[in-house]
Amino acid sequence: MTQLKPILSHLDPIIPSSTGKFKPDKFSAYSFHRLRCHPRLAFWSFLSVIFILLFFCFSPPDGGAAAAKRRSLHTSSYTRRMHLDSNWELKARNSARPRSKTGFSVLVTGAAGFVGTHVSLSLKRRGDGVVGLDNFNSYYDPGLKKARKSLLDRAGVYVIEADINDAVLLRKLFETVHFTHVMHLAAQAGVRYAMQNPNSYIHSNVNGFVSLLEACKNATLQPSIVWASSSSVYGLNSKVPFSEKDRTDRPASLYAATKKAGEEIAHTYNHIYGLSITGLRFFTVYGPWGRPDMAYFFFTKDILKGKEIKIFEGADHATVARDFTYVDDVVKGCLAALDTAKKSTGNGGKKKGAAQFRIYNLGNTNPVPVADLVAILEKLLKVKAKKKVLAMPRNGDVLFTHANISLARKELGYRPTTDLETGLKKFVKWYLRYYGSKKKSAW
Ligand SMILES: NC(=O)c1ccc[n+]([C@@H]2O[C@H](COP(=O)([O-])OP(=O)(O)OC[C@H]3O[C@@H](n4cnc5c(N)ncnc54)[C@H](O)[C@@H]3O)[C@@H](O)[C@H]2O)c1
Repeated sequence: MTQLKPILSHLDPIIPSSTGKFKPDKFSAYSFHRLRCHPRLAFWSFLSVIFILLFFCFSPPDGGAAAAKRRSLHTSSYTRRMHLDSNWELKARNSARPRSKTGFSVLVTGAAGFVGTHVSLSLKRRGDGVVGLDNFNSYYDPGLKKARKSLLDRAGVYVIEADINDAVLLRKLFETVHFTHVMHLAAQAGVRYAMQNPNSYIHSNVNGFVSLLEACKNATLQPSIVWASSSSVYGLNSKVPFSEKDRTDRPASLYAATKKAGEEIAHTYNHIYGLSITGLRFFTVYGPWGRPDMAYFFFTKDILKGKEIKIFEGADHATVARDFTYVDDVVKGCLAALDTAKKSTGNGGKKKGAAQFRIYNLGNTNPVPVADLVAILEKLLKVKAKKKVLAMPRNGDVLFTHANISLARKELGYRPTTDLETGLKKFVKWYLRYYGSKKKSAW
């Protein structure tokens, strides 16, 4: 009745204009008298009421043409607001299409990141369909992320610029494409930055992960998920080499704590909703197109600039060492995890049976002291580094990392083959070409 009011009040100013004050009995007693005085008005009022009732009776239910139009209008305004391509759904569908019927359709989050770019390219090269997603944040030079995106564009991988916390976008994306797998690499990386911007770790590594798992769980055909945890979950563990069976309840940084939280959250979604989930604990990944916040990268930059580099040591001059793992080896581990992932058992949020849950170390099993890393860089760059040895500050870094990879070897066939010098040679070659050719500055 309230919807009729504006029309009727326009026709007869006597009818009260505020809702709730309109009394039908008063209307009958008083207005009929008025209507008798205006037969034409009564006729038009009657016609209007009939027209409106007919409109409500015959308008299509939700899902009809009008509703679809309303939805698409909403979609296009959403698309504009989120700076998405106007035809992003079509691009995503095409990009996700595998070359053969047996190929995968993989959503790679963090695709413009270091590992994400390499994984996306490898998947595409072997014939899988890939859609990338990345928010291109400025934790490090977004120009480098854009350059990686250009590489992916050329290879036919479409990358959507969006945040994994955008539940609306994720829902639309999962409605648009049936992903068989999700390779989740988007995260706030870096141990030291957590002291400056702790919330960014919660945003991406906890909230963002839950948002992604929600989208996966709600998908009509749930994908299998492989995601990047980190060797940092071993925290203060001193038993070497680090095995998946070791304690991971003593993180040394907020980054590590959020990765550990991710592992527990993953278990919950596996247990309740039947999502097939594999966590991979990466050990210091390096290589071409790497991350400017990592030591091998900024040592290279500083050595070339003649700037002093800081080399940390532990108490009593203890050596700081890392199990440096070349990116191609890690990529092989990621693909093997995708290939051996079993299907999720849930459907539209309902679990149908127990699902696969796995965790593997992906390292190199050969820790190298940071001083040796510097010596290799000096040799490759043909420049002597200006070194300053300092006590390691308490900023979240651990003294050493060393992976036991026997589980990944047995179950994934994971066999890293690149030693540090070979891998750094490839990194330095890329670095000199990338930063030497154009006027790009390494952050
Ligand atoms: N590189 C390593 O040595 C290493 C070691 C252990 C674990 N990991 C993990 O591996 C994964 C990949 O690492 P990387 O070295 O390629 O890092 P990276 O920073 O280069 O890549 C991560 C990408 O995710 C994107 N991203 C971050 N938050 C996002 C969000 N909320 N929504 C959408 N995109 C977002 C970033 O823009 C970035 O491009 C990360 O999960 C990282 O924690 C890496």
